[in-house]
Amino acid sequence: MDREIEEFIEECYLTCDLIIGDCIKLSRELEDNFINCTVTSPPYNKHSVGSTKESLVKEYIPGKQSNGVFRKIEYDSFNDSLPEDVYQEQQVELLDTLYDKTVPGGSLFYNHKVRYLKGDCIHPIEWLRKSKWHIREELIWTKSTGTEISGYRFTQCEERIYWLCKGDKHPKMSRKCADFTSVWKFPPDVKNSHPAPYPLVLPLRCIEAVMSEPGVVLDPYSGSGTTGVAATLLGHDYIGFDLSECYSGTAKERIENPTKRDIENFRKYSDSNPQISSFLDDFFY
Ligand SMILES: C[S@@+](CC[C@H](N)C(=O)[O-])C[C@H]1O[C@@H](n2cnc3c(N)ncnc32)[C@H](O)[C@@H]1O
Repeated sequence: MDREIEEFIEECYLTCDLIIGDCIKLSRELEDNFINCTVTSPPYNKHSVGSTKESLVKEYIPGKQSNGVFRKIEYDSFNDSLPEDVYQEQQVELLDTLYDKTVPGGSLFYNHKVRYLKGDCIHPIEWLRKSKWHIREELIWTKSTGTEISGYRFTQCEERIYWLCKGDKHPKMSRKCADFTSVWKFPPDVKNSHPAPYPLVLPLRCIEAVMSEPGVVLDPYSGSGTTGVAATLLGHDYIGFDLSECYSGTAKERIENPTKRDIENFRKYSDSNPQISSFLDDFFY
């Protein structure tokens, strides 16, 4: 690796803890009022394990032919198929625990989607409203690609990101960040070996919007460590939980030695923020 990049990573890299286990149990062990920002995407309870129809999805660009990318959304260490009421109760339990562990004025960005299960429309707002968090904003992430389902519905190309705040002392973001607007457009990360990663730009934007000082970032569903890469490259401490030993191992390696692709994406997507790009200039040029 380029020496300058290595030095930059060493400077950025404060502490990074990846812990294997259930995120509800592990979250209870955190100190109260300790986390500055959480960015996370839980499993969606898609009942996909063993079902070829649901687990093997064909990524598709509407109006064009399929780009031929197939993704298998099956996790290695759990079966993503709880009864929906149990799933939602667990999500509320996690959200409420994280509320207590977050500093007053801290944020939690929660990536989820509207699901259609057995003909029923299930919206994340149903359980978010039951949690202690204040829902500050609903953001739409439009991915340009959808899943090919042969005209049963309009092709679903979007997911949601909920910006949740603790209390009414809200952080004020820069004009640059606000100008990203409430509709975010970028593609999914299809080059990651994890079954359901989000792209690096997603946690980068969330963290940059609310953290102007170094602090602690958490992802209770850490997966391939995308939030950890964003957090540590931005100079924050990171705590990640995941049930899977395998994903946690990959995440640790990825956070400690970011790939060329992660560094390129970091530079590309942080460039729009002058503060960050001049910070990077000190290290790269
Ligand atoms: C949607 S993925 C997150 C992907 C991540 N955002 C990324 O970019 O790689 C959800 C992750 O949660 C993990 N997981 C599922 N249930 C969990 C639980 N109860 N506690 C901790 N991790 C869990 C899965 O192993 C999976 O890696």
